Amino acid sequence: MALSKYEKNKNWDADLYNGKHSYVSQYGESLLKLLDPKPNEIICDIGCGTGDLAKQILESGAQVLGIDKSESMINEAKNKYSDIQFKSQDIKAFHAHQKFDAIFSNATLHWIKQPEQAIMSIFNAIKPGGRFVAELGGQDNIKCIVDGINSALDYFNFSNNKGNNPWYFPSVSEYTSILEKQGFIVREVVYYDRPTKLEDGEEGLRNWLKMFAGFFFENVPLEIYNNMLTHIEDKCQMHLFKNGEWFADYKRLRIKVEK
Ligand code: BEZ
Repeated sequence: MALSKYEKNKNWDADLYNGKHSYVSQYGESLLKLLDPKPNEIICDIGCGTGDLAKQILESGAQVLGIDKSESMINEAKNKYSDIQFKSQDIKAFHAHQKFDAIFSNATLHWIKQPEQAIMSIFNAIKPGGRFVAELGGQDNIKCIVDGINSALDYFNFSNNKGNNPWYFPSVSEYTSILEKQGFIVREVVYYDRPTKLEDGEEGLRNWLKMFAGFFFENVPLEIYNNMLTHIEDKCQMHLFKNGEWFADYKRLRIKVEK
C-alpha cells in the first residue's frame, strides 16, 4: 500500500505541533525581544501556528492578528486564545484591511518558495516607518537531514520525488537583496547555527520526518517508506545523534527591516 497524499501531508497536525514541536514557539521568544512590541501597536503574526507567540505579543499591550495557512492550526489557536483574532490565509495572497505597525514571523517563511511575492505582500501591509521582524531557516538549514532524504530517495529509486522539496533556505545576501529590492531598509541580520533537540529520544528524527517531510514520500509504498526512514537515520546518526537524543542541524536567518 502506498501512502496517500493525505496521510503523507498530515504534517500540520495541530495536536502534534502543540505537544512535541512546541520548541518552535519557545525558540521564538527571543525573536519577540527583537520585535519589541509596544502598547496599542497593531501587529500581525504570520504563520502563527497555534498562537503562543501571538498571545505573548498581546500581553505586551499590542493588538494582534494571527494568520496561518493551516486551518487546523487556526482552529486550535482560536480554541486556546479566544481573545485574539486569527485567520486562515496564505501569505502570498495576503490583503489586510488595515496596515500594521509591525509584522512578525517565526519559522514560516522557509515554506514559501516564492519569497518575492511574500515579501511584497508583507511590505504592502506595513505602515510607512513600520518594521518586519522574522526568523527562518537559512542557507544549509537541516543540510544533513536533506542529504539523508535525497540519499534515501535515490537508493530506493524515487529520485523524482526530490523535486517535491517544499523548503527555501536563502543565504544572507539572497534574502537581504530581495528585501532591499522591495524597498525595505535592512537594520539587522544574523545567521547562526541552532542545533535543536528533537523530542522522543531515539524516535526523534523519525517523528520529525513524519511531521514535516511528508512531501518527499508521495506515492512511496508504506514498507519502502519505513525503510527510507531507517536509511535516513543511518545516514544522519554520526552527525545528529548524541547520548540517545537527536539534534536537528538548524541554521537560522534572523532579520529586522523597516519600511
Ligand atoms: C525549520 O524550522 O527550519 C524547519 C522546520 C520544519 C521543516 C523544515 C525546516
